[in-house]
Amino acid sequence: MALPSMFLSTLLSLLLTPLPFLIWYLHVPRSLPNLPRIPIYVSILGLWSSMGQDEIYERWFRAPLEKHGAVLVWFAGRWSVLVSRPDWLTDMFRNEQIYAKAGSQKKIPHAVIATLVGDNIINAHGENWKLYTGIMKAGLQKKVFETTSLLKQSRKLVDILIDSQKETGPNKGILIMADVQKWAVDVMGENFLDLDLKSLGQPNGAVRIEALQSIIKATLFKPMYFSFPDLDHFPWLLPSRKRAYNIMHEFDNRLYTMVMTMLHKRTQNKPAQSEEMVSHMLGEAYTSGRITEKQFRDNLKITFLTAHENAQQLVTSMFWQLGTRVEIQDRLREEILTTAKTHPNPSQEIINSLPYLTAVVLELLRLFPPVCQLINRVALQPALLGGELPISKGTFVGWNAWAVHSNPDVWGEDAREFRAERWGETVEEMQGRFRRETVRGTYIPFNAHKRKCLGQGFALLQVKILLFVLLGRVRWVVDPEYRLKMTPGGILAPLVCRVILTELESL
Ligand code: HEM
Repeated sequence: MALPSMFLSTLLSLLLTPLPFLIWYLHVPRSLPNLPRIPIYVSILGLWSSMGQDEIYERWFRAPLEKHGAVLVWFAGRWSVLVSRPDWLTDMFRNEQIYAKAGSQKKIPHAVIATLVGDNIINAHGENWKLYTGIMKAGLQKKVFETTSLLKQSRKLVDILIDSQKETGPNKGILIMADVQKWAVDVMGENFLDLDLKSLGQPNGAVRIEALQSIIKATLFKPMYFSFPDLDHFPWLLPSRKRAYNIMHEFDNRLYTMVMTMLHKRTQNKPAQSEEMVSHMLGEAYTSGRITEKQFRDNLKITFLTAHENAQQLVTSMFWQLGTRVEIQDRLREEILTTAKTHPNPSQEIINSLPYLTAVVLELLRLFPPVCQLINRVALQPALLGGELPISKGTFVGWNAWAVHSNPDVWGEDAREFRAERWGETVEEMQGRFRRETVRGTYIPFNAHKRKCLGQGFALLQVKILLFVLLGRVRWVVDPEYRLKMTPGGILAPLVCRVILTELESL
């Protein structure tokens, strides 16, 4: 054989050998229901396109989801069923014994994301979930949350943003995301872990555990590894994977050491009325042998992540939405300033009694659900979802909140518009609608039924208090030069947000 043709045939066989493997790896199993399939390249669009999640949704997901109520989608290394029909969602959320939680620790235990989150209160099923909930619930769902520290942290954030605007000059935009992340991390530390992290006001990177959060987010949402987590089997071949594991271990070890040091000091000094916090409860369960060191670490990490990240995303969306609709700010400011006259430091009860504030936050969560898409349940037995869609045992199923919240058949023709008035006039009316829509599967920013968010009450309070403080001090517009770009991953929020703030007293 001549040299060129030998070279060609070697090259061809090298290229073709993996082909049968790829065909097998990517094929759609016959056991999956007969549903439209989202092309596999959509899952890795981020590699060559900068399309945001909203654009991707409009182009590939909306039509099939609104017509069929569910689609097949390639997610985390397998074809799964993504559901958006409210009655099917309700069936899924109600019947956790059939559609069992199975997070990355079950689905892809070798992967970087599983190293990060492990087995925890959000993704565990059965006995482990009961164990974790029994330990942590009282620290997550207090009857009354003290507002003093939330007011203090929010005032600090607003002071910092005002200073940052002064330094930048009056007509230039400032980026808010870094300070919002620090605020969210500090609030989480103080309210759930008994850690005074003091990242707000420090330069970026100064508080390592906070700075790690940005690195973790950037590491996890790399489209190739997110869609093909089997690549995480090869950290010895892929240096970026090796770095990713190192980052996850660093976060794990730092948090463990910080919490253990805090717990040690607490036992030595025993303050008369030490507030019962999630970290204390987990610490007690660990030292008494009810949970292992790994379970202790995993639940600390998920508390750290979930209790800051969702609020952070929602606040970024809030800056964008209210910065493009200043009339909403004006109406909200009127309600807030009237209340502030008699209650400059409002309690939880006062904050939760403000109707327009309540409606604005509920509407923000409808249009910008921070947890937008999750596929973390597996069918433990053959089932008929909603009595209609056959789901075979072992099939992964999940949901998309934006699909439900933006569907005109569910929320009316103006479903994609921000209209806080849709929630009603009184707080009681709003809470009633919130509860009804959640039960029906038509409003799911916090999920619904048995596994709904345990931090919901705190999260709503935290964001309302920030709005209370912010609107009492400033007015802002989105920088006219900023073009909205949404995140590409499973979180629905602007990727960045640049605003121009004006202090009220200087108006
Ligand atoms: C705006 C803020 C928040 C949003 C949008 C949000 C959303 C959610 C969602 C969608 C779930 C269900 C996840 C799933 O199905 O796998 C969930 C679960 C959970 N969230 Fe939140 N969350 C927020 C804030 C918080 C906070 C501040 C905490 C406090 C630590 C918290 C603690 C939890 C816990 C413990 C669960 C698991 C409940 C269970 O499975 O029993 N969340 N959250």
